[in-house]
Formats: sequence, structure tokens, C-alpha cells
Amino acid sequence: MIHHRLTRRQMIQLGVGAAAGIGAIPRPRGTDLSLLQSSESGGDLAANMAQQPSLKYQAIASGLIYGAASSMKDLKNDQPFQTQFVRECQMLVSEWELKWDAVRPTPSTYNFAAGDWLVQFARSHGLLLRGHTLVWHWLPQWFEQTVNRQNAERFLTEHITTVAKRYAGQVHSWDVVNEAIHLDDGRADGLRNTPWLQRLGPDYIEIAFRAAAKADPKALLVYNDYGLEYDNRDDEAKRSAVLKLLERLKSKNVPVHAFGMQSHLMGHEARLNPGKLRRFLSDVASLGLKILITELDVVDQNLPKDIVVRDRIVATAYERYLSVALDEPAVIAVITWGLSDRYTWLSRFYPRKDKLPVRSLPLNDKLDRKLAWSAIAQSFKGRSSR
Ligand code: XIL
Repeated sequence: MIHHRLTRRQMIQLGVGAAAGIGAIPRPRGTDLSLLQSSESGGDLAANMAQQPSLKYQAIASGLIYGAASSMKDLKNDQPFQTQFVRECQMLVSEWELKWDAVRPTPSTYNFAAGDWLVQFARSHGLLLRGHTLVWHWLPQWFEQTVNRQNAERFLTEHITTVAKRYAGQVHSWDVVNEAIHLDDGRADGLRNTPWLQRLGPDYIEIAFRAAAKADPKALLVYNDYGLEYDNRDDEAKRSAVLKLLERLKSKNVPVHAFGMQSHLMGHEARLNPGKLRRFLSDVASLGLKILITELDVVDQNLPKDIVVRDRIVATAYERYLSVALDEPAVIAVITWGLSDRYTWLSRFYPRKDKLPVRSLPLNDKLDRKLAWSAIAQSFKGRSSR
């Protein structure tokens, strides 16, 4: 989850510069009109975008996986959306269906109906599947009163074993532990004071990864976190704490195989430091870990009203971030947290004060490709296959 607030300096920094680094793209069919209005070259900005290979294929050509998070409710009931999802994505991430509050209605029961549907959907459409997430601090209502120090390890290992075993062999990667670092909680190790930490201490993370490795030896096991992208004191401190956590886990031979960098970008936040970001990714990779960009989107909450300007800032945020991140050979996947503005968590969690629909993802709410789409596509282009 992201908790950035605009500083006065950031407000002043807020530029509306052209979408730097985005080459002119010929006019497409079925394109978001804002692209045509915004083109400096008389509407040629996206002449044939509709014919361009999908993000899926452009990522494959660069040795990457592109995918997006989605949910049964969106995929099952919206055929046009489903069609675009399968066209653009090689990977599907369960936005909700495999979380505790989805699969654990009560302490003694599991409900896999939604999870099974999503796994079946992925299989029947040839999509790789990412499982999200086996351990997080967002827990069902019953947890607080039911799970205590004495039974916490049993609850944790039984949950992971039951869920991961059910889908063993069908999951490309699991976010085993999500968002375990939270420096505001004041611990020297930076660990978030989650219900799991309160009951099991820091070892809950190792317990989780070992249980996941036993339950599904084929899945790539990922530690996933956010708030690491920018050149500010908080992100710098969090990068250091995450790196130390990963180093500790690797030094104890804990089976963590990859790091998931959520990458919820701030459209208004101009301060990327390419050197620091690249150094962090390189340090993570030097631990022998793969890296996935797991929840990429751009918060446009404080961006200008004008959608042409807003689309450019959003596209620039994608282009600047990915042009650095994809320099790291250990990065294997780019996943956006949603594919279309029609379905994004940002509408609810980071709504605009002017109540205008957010415009954060590669496709607009009519499922047309936007400048953001071309920025992501451009970042894949010209990358030699890894
Ligand atoms: C979000 C979902 O997108 C929402 O639909 C849900 O209501 C809350 O969780 N980081 C994460 C994801 O790891 O699990 C969160 O997903 C977004 C932030």
C-alpha cells in the first residue's frame, strides 16, 4: 500500500512537460482520443497503435513477462474486458481471490470457489498465474480473537500448505509474504508490527517461506513490498531495510527466490534517482534473487484535470521508471495492478478530489490503448532478449 503525501516542494515540482522519451506513434484504430488531440505531430501520435503487437508479445520479444492483476468479478462478467486481458497479458495475478479474507470465511473452513475459477480461467486461456498473497496483515475479522501465540504457527503453516498445495504446479510464483517492512512501527529491523509478528516474532517470515516451498516446490517464492521507488528519505530507508531482510533470509537459506517490487508510482512525484534505484535492484539481484515488478500503476490523484496533460505525466512516469528498472537483467516480469481504468483499486483507494475517473493504466475505461500503453511498450522495445 502506498502512503505518499505531496510535499510543498513536490507540488512546485509538478511539471506538465511533454511525455519525454515517447517516440511518435502512428495513428491507431480504436484509440483513446486524448492521444490524437495531444499529438505534436498533427494526430500521428498513435496512427497504428491498434495494430502494434500486444504488450504480451512485446514483452516476450524482450525476454520479459507482461501481465496484470484482475479478479473473477471483472473477468467473468465483462467479455470485452476479458478479450483485451487475454490479448495483452501473458500473466494473471489474483487481485483478491487467494487472499485470506477470500479463502478463509471461518477459522475452520476454506472457500476456494473464486480461486478455483481464476486458476481454471488462467489455465484455459494459457495464462501464467501469480498467486497473491499467502501472508499479509490484511486478515479476516475472526483472526484477532481466534489466533494466538500458541496456535499461530499451526494456523500459518496449515493455511499456506492447504492453499499452495491445492494449486501446486499451476502457479508461476507466489507472493508468500507481502509488505512485512514498515519503518513507522519503529523496530530496528524495520519489520511491520503485524498480527503475525506479534504472535510468532520475526521468524514468521521464514516459517512461511519454508511451508510454501514444501507445499509447491515448483513455484517461484517471492517477498513483495512497496514504497521503494523514489529518491526520498522514507524510500531510501525502506530500500535498506528490505535489503537487510532479504540478506538475513538468504543467509539462513530460507527458500526465497525473488523480490516483488510493487511499484505504485506517483504521477506527481518527479524525484526518481536512477542511480539509487538501479543500485537497489542490483543489490537485490546480487543475492541471487530474480525481481518482478508486481503492482505497477501510477497514482494520478493530484495531477491536472486535463486528461491530455494527465496522460502524458502518467506515461512519463511509466517510461522513466521502466527505463531504469528494466536495465536490471534480474527483472523477469512487469505486472500492472489492473489493465484498464475501468477496473483499478486506485478509484476507491486514491480517488481524485475532482471526482474525475482515474487514468492510471495502459487501457482507458473503454479498453482503448493510451499513451501509458505505448510508454510500457516502448520500455520493452529494444531490450535484447535476456
Ligand atoms: C488491493 C486490491 O486491489 C483491492 O481491490 C482490495 O480492496 C485491497 O487490496 N498492495 C497489495 C495488494 O499488495 O494486495 C492491494 O490490492 C493493493 C496494494
